[in-house]
Amino acid sequence: MSTAKAAKKKTAIKKNIVKTAKKKPATAKGQLYATLVMQLRSLLEGEYDFIANAANFSALVFNSLPDVSWAGFYLLHDGVLVLGPCQGKPACVRIPLGDGVCGFAAKQCETVIVPNVHEFPGHIACDAASNSEIVIPLFDGERVFGVFDVDSPTLKRFDDQDAEGLNEMVTVLVAHEEGLDD
Ligand code: SME
Repeated sequence: MSTAKAAKKKTAIKKNIVKTAKKKPATAKGQLYATLVMQLRSLLEGEYDFIANAANFSALVFNSLPDVSWAGFYLLHDGVLVLGPCQGKPACVRIPLGDGVCGFAAKQCETVIVPNVHEFPGHIACDAASNSEIVIPLFDGERVFGVFDVDSPTLKRFDDQDAEGLNEMVTVLVAHEEGLDD
């Protein structure tokens, strides 16, 4: 990446973080995510191994968000999402791009909230107890290099605040990895 491009990207990410950090969390859920972002920053401090940081990220989300049965990463390798650091029951290892909720989110490059997974065409049921799901893509610039997936046994468990909070957390993780959060 050129120096000019890297500087532009750094500014964009910083702007994004500052913009979200300055917003006052008006609800309990907003407050929870604000706390999680602080805890995440502290977990990441001084460590730049992506697998280690992604493992702690999953553990933080899985143990802090209520009513969650699985939380973890799938990372894109040659057009296939491969299971990464995760918490919860064992899960499907490989998901082709475009398949399931994870493959759909990665292909569309967008966050996907599924209120009822049984109504999502092609949903991949790793855990029969899962009823709703949210998938956040991970971006390296414009390119998606993986997703973060969270499952719940409760229908309609995830809303726009979860999408916003989890996107902020994922942005902090990726920016830290790229050395763009100093
Ligand atoms: N349900 C996901 C598969 C991954 S598991 O939920 C851990 C999907 O449809 O892509």
